[in-house]
Amino acid sequence: MTYIVNDRCINCRYTDCVEVCPVDCFYIGENSVVINPDECIDCGVCEPECPADAIVPDTEMTSELEYWLNINTKYSQEWPNITKKIDPMPDADNFNPTKGYTKDKTQDFNTEGAKDL
Ligand code: SF4
Ligand code: F3S
Repeated sequence: MTYIVNDRCINCRYTDCVEVCPVDCFYIGENSVVINPDECIDCGVCEPECPADAIVPDTEMTSELEYWLNINTKYSQEWPNITKKIDPMPDADNFNPTKGYTKDKTQDFNTEGAKDL
């Protein structure tokens, strides 16, 4: 089992999640983060930390969540590891679904690993 970061993280990237992970299994891209499913110990402490509600368990898989599991698996092997909180994306609150942003952000996913952290 693992937890999965979905499209709600995109263009928000608050990084509150990375601070609390006991096994440091978050990896950072240009506009989101992912979890390495093989390293995640399923502790669940990151889930309530995300201001965008972007982290979900894999207990009730849907085709959409399967898509994001594959994204997490792939890019956690390519992107740099992150263990400390950094500033959110510049417009994070405007892209936050919990603050009223309603569009699916899947198309905005940036496949590049974060640079100049
Ligand atoms: Fe890390 Fe626990 Fe979240 Fe998995 S569930 S990513 S181990 S904090
Ligand atoms: Fe993304 Fe939420 Fe973490 S927005 S960086 S999953 S705190």
